[in-house]
Amino acid sequence: MSGELVIKSIISSIIKNDNKPLSIAVLASGNGSNLQALIDFSKRPTSSYAIKTVIVNTKFSKALERADKACINNHLIDHNDFPSKSAFEKKILSILLEEEIELIVLAGFMRVLSRNFLRHFENRIINLHPSLLPKHPGLDAINKALLAKDETAGCTVHLVDEGLDTGPIIAQASCPIFHDDDLEALKKRIQSLEHELLPKVVNHIAQSVFKGQ
Ligand code: GRF
Repeated sequence: MSGELVIKSIISSIIKNDNKPLSIAVLASGNGSNLQALIDFSKRPTSSYAIKTVIVNTKFSKALERADKACINNHLIDHNDFPSKSAFEKKILSILLEEEIELIVLAGFMRVLSRNFLRHFENRIINLHPSLLPKHPGLDAINKALLAKDETAGCTVHLVDEGLDTGPIIAQASCPIFHDDDLEALKKRIQSLEHELLPKVVNHIAQSVFKGQ
């Protein structure tokens, strides 16, 4: 399926009744550099989305601090504080529904979401992955590209389905792998691609939603 077709399936799942920027939630677990890229882009006059809420599942994530600094609602929902995955997801869902979130962006969120969760936001959850999917799904994708002696690496934004990084691809960006690259060097190169690609894709989806109204 081409990226534009995937975007069509996303926009047909978003019912927009107002002219406000597309309301997105960003879920993160780590450094939050992609959240930062989304925040920075959202301040541009050309941005058609607004980050309404940020949810993180560990107090060690820098995403909380970044959201605070940008005055964005943020929530620490630690999966360890819940008796089950479904209780953890129920809490997240209640926030997303209350905040009338239209699109969920997983930016380094290290929990796999259940079928029940996905059902509530069908075709409205996208994920960022640091490889040229379908190559190297799952953890340690950058290291896997180095070990496989690939010549090219990159990142992918895809729709989330029940599999691990298996959903339909929306967009990709690629970069070379140099023979003397180590993990840090390649990660840096891939992350600068991610910081460009993710906000661009989210904004493109938002603009497409408005055009499709
Ligand atoms: C990114 O490389 C993304 O592809 C992966 O997790 C990383 C998150 O980085 N899913 P950050 O927390 O946004 O800096």
